[in-house]
Amino acid sequence: MTLRAIEWDHTAGRDRTGAVRLLDQTLLPLRTEFRTVERTDDLVTAIRELAVRGAPALGVAGALGVVVAMDEAAREGWDDQALRAAVDRVRHARPTAVNLAWGVDEVLPLMAAGRGAVLEAALRLAHEDEAANRQLSRLAADWLLERIDRPRLRVLTHCNAGILATSGWGTAVGVIKELHARDRVELVYADETRPLLQGARLTAYELANEGIPHVVQTDSAAASTILRGLVDFAVVGADRIAANGDTANKIGTLGVALACRDAGIPFMVAAPWSTVDLSMSDGSKIEIEERDGDEVTRWAGIPVVPEGTHGFNPAFDVTPARLVDAVSTERGVAEPRSGSDLAMLARATSGLKQ
Ligand code: MRU
Repeated sequence: MTLRAIEWDHTAGRDRTGAVRLLDQTLLPLRTEFRTVERTDDLVTAIRELAVRGAPALGVAGALGVVVAMDEAAREGWDDQALRAAVDRVRHARPTAVNLAWGVDEVLPLMAAGRGAVLEAALRLAHEDEAANRQLSRLAADWLLERIDRPRLRVLTHCNAGILATSGWGTAVGVIKELHARDRVELVYADETRPLLQGARLTAYELANEGIPHVVQTDSAAASTILRGLVDFAVVGADRIAANGDTANKIGTLGVALACRDAGIPFMVAAPWSTVDLSMSDGSKIEIEERDGDEVTRWAGIPVVPEGTHGFNPAFDVTPARLVDAVSTERGVAEPRSGSDLAMLARATSGLKQ
């Protein structure tokens, strides 16, 4: 099965000149429906509602969003200022994943060369993301199998960092798929990922499609599962990785990393280089998205707290580099806890495309 979280449909849209096609992740796994997006503000809404989500997929949304804005500008007769403002709304739709702004910035300089050039660059970026994910998964699997001496591994993951969060293959789930292809996976513990259940709804959906043995547990079970010795390593995706290896990812990731450290098992981050933000020396300045408290105070739309109680809903946390054993990227594996960080990996691989 080929799932695509986001792609360009060349014949969609009012004028049949193309539009973004999103798999609406708010409805999975119960319903498989797509949104065709040809207005900038609809794309911004889809990003905020998490119809499209996950850092690398947001990078593609950012790049294709520039095409959407250009098409809308042409249709509506916007001036340059209105077009720039629309692009900016896409760029800032969510703050934590660096990929969103990165995707916009990658294609924006090509605007002067015309829509065709921007679209081509956006499609190339999506293609390269999938290739990067496959490569970082291979490197991650090699790294893990060199260090964990078991015929088959028991792995814990948090949130969803699979096909649905990328333009293809996946990052953390990509690592699990690579290990599964080598017949080295015993069982995956997928944290459900409160409050929006990306682990239960999306990761379990992907693992089931791939025939990978898995169970879903509550987030609050994770530390105990790790300390009981039921897990050999944890692997998660990332929304932004600072130069020193501090890593922003879905809220709850930090607790998983702390438990792994206590249990002495590897905590791995898997992410394409587009998620690395070398402009940040550490994670202290990473903006953490705070979402509507109602996502916490309601369950399936039903209030679960007394009237007047408010929710506190940070969507991400930052795991300090001292807890991160490995960051697997397509450029190589950094080991922040042992002092080989992303800045060093960048220097060592500076001949490669940034
Ligand atoms: O709020 P979300 O669903 O966009 O959060 C997603 C995550 O935290 C993922 O782990 C991260 O973006 C990496 S996706 C390869």
